[in-house]
Amino acid sequence: PELEKWVDEVPRPEVLEPSGTKEGQPYYEVEMREVEQRLHSDLPPTTVWGYDGQYPGPTIEAEQGEPIYVRWKNDLPDEHLLPVDTTLHADVVPYDTPGVHTVTHLHGGNVEAESDGNAQAWFTRDFEETGPAFEQKDYYYANEQPPSTMWYHDHAKGITRLNAYAGLAGFYLLRNDHERGLDLPDSEYEIPLAIQDRSFEEDGSLFYPAAVADEQGGSDDSHPDPTVVPEFYGDTPVVNGKAWSRLSVEPRPYRLRILNASNSRFYRLELVEYDESADETGADGPPFVLIGNDGGLLPEPVELEDRLELGSSQRADVVVDFSDYAGETVLLHNDAPAMYRGDGGDDDDGDESDDVVPLHEVMLVEVADSESNDTDGEGSTDTEEDDADVGFLPSELTQVPELPVESVDTERYLTLAHDTDEDDRALHLLGTADEPSGIPMMGPATETPTLGDTEIWSLANHTSMSHPVHLHLVHFQVLGRQPVGDYDPDEDTIDLGALESPEPYELGWNDVVTVDPAEVVHIIAHFGEYEGLFTDQTGEYMWHCHMLEHEDHDMMRPLKVGPRSA
Ligand code: C2O
Ligand code: CU
Repeated sequence: PELEKWVDEVPRPEVLEPSGTKEGQPYYEVEMREVEQRLHSDLPPTTVWGYDGQYPGPTIEAEQGEPIYVRWKNDLPDEHLLPVDTTLHADVVPYDTPGVHTVTHLHGGNVEAESDGNAQAWFTRDFEETGPAFEQKDYYYANEQPPSTMWYHDHAKGITRLNAYAGLAGFYLLRNDHERGLDLPDSEYEIPLAIQDRSFEEDGSLFYPAAVADEQGGSDDSHPDPTVVPEFYGDTPVVNGKAWSRLSVEPRPYRLRILNASNSRFYRLELVEYDESADETGADGPPFVLIGNDGGLLPEPVELEDRLELGSSQRADVVVDFSDYAGETVLLHNDAPAMYRGDGGDDDDGDESDDVVPLHEVMLVEVADSESNDTDGEGSTDTEEDDADVGFLPSELTQVPELPVESVDTERYLTLAHDTDEDDRALHLLGTADEPSGIPMMGPATETPTLGDTEIWSLANHTSMSHPVHLHLVHFQVLGRQPVGDYDPDEDTIDLGALESPEPYELGWNDVVTVDPAEVVHIIAHFGEYEGLFTDQTGEYMWHCHMLEHEDHDMMRPLKVGPRSA
């Protein structure tokens, strides 16, 4: 459908209120429900799935050091909204049990294994059926980690891509006093932005392909029907649940918490001046000043000179000063091609790189002529702020202790590999030095760190496309990257000086890192409490590619943290 651009305002997700207390801590109940929601004023209402009946779900606001309980409840209909490929992990997923499988993962949460939202801890409506890893109904989030932009989303085995696409995702913001003391733009000047791509049918319903042919115009009878598709790229930008939306701001600094909540798509973002009537972009707009990423604040603000790159699930906490743009419009512009770096050429299931849709325009920002009268005294009278650009930001935001490369307990060489499955479909896998061609999701755990250990993981991409790799439980630091051929784990030690340094948006604590074709990215992680940050946890977690189509189709592996050795 033809949708008029920039007519609907970007909604701000509601903040969730606790429904009571449990063990003296706030207790939340969040029900997943099917609802109709207007995603664009030219579209009839769209049937979506929402936490608390909202898409995106309501924001959970939490405080460092104050644990909460959440009961994620499934009240979804019996039938899935989208085409389910019942061949994916059919040996462990009982697709014929009535009801939709769901389980919620707090992405970025340093949480106990029983509350992690393991893909196999799924449950159906009223917990009637539960998966083999299901342990408990009430999830416990300790909130013992640096304040950060987290999000929660569905993680059910084999159908995560569909459940998330249907709408099951929301923000979880963790805060503390130190951060409040930094005087960052707050309340109405702090805006979480969940960026997604979707496609729609004329009747307003969500389109998700049931066959590779749907996207490529060919047909292939060898695939199951419906089948998982290699990747998903929608033709419509959706921000906080509104298509082609506009964000109205005042000419002042804002804190934007940007989340790539898309299934597969990468973004490389920049604000550019925009002439709305001519539909023309112009010079660069205000820069992103990066203050945090996945795992919390950076040591100091970094004004980005290049575009901001976000793979699926990555977050960027940025301050943008619109002071010099009063009365103008700027465009949130993306220049990442859908396949991103690499041509997908080894994905020999068709010419997918030819037909995927680039999405250049993400959101319009309309800057008002003047600031509204600010009630909390901050802002309009403070000319210093306006003149000083983002000079009002403290030069030190937080301290990020460096993980000690000298005392690493284990180094792992891990591969991103490409294969085809028994139905001749493209398959991406994760493997090890011993099995570089990849190990299926259900193979025995090979990443088995011991609590208290520090590990280097060298992620080597042997496929021809970029993958955003995510570890549950821990936040890691990016040491750097190098060509895959320059590092042989059997012969070479990692020469830190020879590595390409991390990008600004990879500084500090991360839980996702993009690994480009033919490169190896070295990351360092500590399993357990570290210098007063994070908590000791053992048990079974996961690590995986966060392109949801890849994750569902075997690009996921267990991450099993064992007890501290005596
Ligand atoms: Cu955001 Cu295992 O996922
Ligand atoms: Cu991938």
